[in-house]
Amino acid sequence: MSKGSEPRKADFVVVANRLPVDLERLEDGTQRWKHSPGGLVTALEPFLRARQGAWVGWPGVADVEVEAFADGDMWLHPVRLSTSEFREYYEGFSNATLWPLYHDVVVPPVFDRSWWDAYQRVNQRFAEAAAEVSAEGATVWIQDYQLQLVPAMLRELRPDLRIGFFLHIPFPPVELFMQLPWRTEIVRGLLGADLVGFHRPGGAQNFMWLARRLGGFEPSRAQVGVRSRPGVVQVGDRVVRVGAFPISIASGELDQLARTREVQQRAKAIRSELGNPRRIMLGVDRLDYTKGIDVRLNAMYELLSEGHATVEDVAMIQVATPSRERVEHYKQMREDIERKVGSINGEFGRVGHPAVHYLHTSVDRKDLVAFYCAADVMIVTPVRDGMNLVCKEYVASRGDLGGSLVLSEFAGSAAELTSALLVNPHDLDGVKDSMLAALNIDQAEGRRRMRALRRQVLTHDVDRWARSFLEALGASPTE
Ligand code: ADP
Ligand code: F6P
Repeated sequence: MSKGSEPRKADFVVVANRLPVDLERLEDGTQRWKHSPGGLVTALEPFLRARQGAWVGWPGVADVEVEAFADGDMWLHPVRLSTSEFREYYEGFSNATLWPLYHDVVVPPVFDRSWWDAYQRVNQRFAEAAAEVSAEGATVWIQDYQLQLVPAMLRELRPDLRIGFFLHIPFPPVELFMQLPWRTEIVRGLLGADLVGFHRPGGAQNFMWLARRLGGFEPSRAQVGVRSRPGVVQVGDRVVRVGAFPISIASGELDQLARTREVQQRAKAIRSELGNPRRIMLGVDRLDYTKGIDVRLNAMYELLSEGHATVEDVAMIQVATPSRERVEHYKQMREDIERKVGSINGEFGRVGHPAVHYLHTSVDRKDLVAFYCAADVMIVTPVRDGMNLVCKEYVASRGDLGGSLVLSEFAGSAAELTSALLVNPHDLDGVKDSMLAALNIDQAEGRRRMRALRRQVLTHDVDRWARSFLEALGASPTE
């Protein structure tokens, strides 16, 4: 990490809850920066680096004051959160109110007025930080559900800026959104942007309906599609565009990384460390209750108990990155998952052959790609996911056309990855059948499906996503 000279005002600014790196405090009192978790950073970091922009975000630890610093060609501007703001704005309003509400109320959202106060206060701080670092007429791209009030707050401070907003998680059905006591404020906050982007057309459509119902603004009537013109909401004398932009990954880079000798050898080593099973089945997720980790464990349990699989024949690996560990439903879910893994292993495991290899950790990029290359079956079974990048990463890593993808219909990516084995995660028999089909897939059929998946993922990469968003925003994507 280079210190560089003084930060200058930037023409292109990303504002996100997290910086792309997290400050980690080690036991010996020292600290270091590590890569931040999640799909948002995976998607945006390569793009911003190439454009030498600035990134405004929280450094991942409460109560620390960190000066702006350069990371390669990118300037990082840390925003401070106090311990109580971390609890109320991040763990509370963002992850115990908005997260479950926007993910189909998978668990009940909590509506707490003091969390809402903290959310407003912290959004104002992010808006002020963005106003401070942006050059005259700059493009500012605000990210995700933690910062939905920032577009309007920033416009108030800096009317000269071009402001985009992108939501990385699903936008809920209107009936669910209407539960939110602060629904009007959120809609008005988003309408401060020049362009509001969602993964799927349904999200854009729902938002336009709410702009009329809650804001009293007149939206355009044409259906919003992925490749069609964005919808339009007239807000006073401003035009706000609303569109669908399915996010992706740096697929070309991943494809290249997967072909390296080092990764290929690591993939072989994984297979042999597992005792060369006939099939390896893999899950990779943040440890989140939306990801349906329990769904695949239940299906695996039944495949083993019905004799469709044995632990010598099939090795299942679940890599789960720790996430939001103090939020109640996450704690509960971790206990449930780990109890389930323990009981499956207790019932079916043999010495040297556990049924489920469970890693509660984040793995580095090369190891992750080696896991993808080693896996015959990738299982992605969220009960709701805005997009899901893991499945796209798997596809990009399989230049050998090997491997099968079992993918939930409730992931945004299912609309693009139609050659996957698509499953309803609520239908245990269906998930089981698809897992079994993937384990025993005919080689030619598997290659045909993987070829089609790769055509989609390699031609629709993150650069294309960012360009299409910035073009719709009217900002030159090469700025
Ligand atoms: P979300 O944004 O909800 O976390 P995504 O699937 O869109 O879900 O993105 C997750 C990102 O985090 C991917 O880039 C994936 O590679 C990465 N990731 C998930 N689990 C792990 C893990 N255990 N180790 C390393 N990276 C992980
Ligand atoms: O994509 C959803 C998201 O919440 C991102 O905003 C975030 O980068 C990622 O998941 C990880 O979550 P968190 O920042 O809460 O650890």
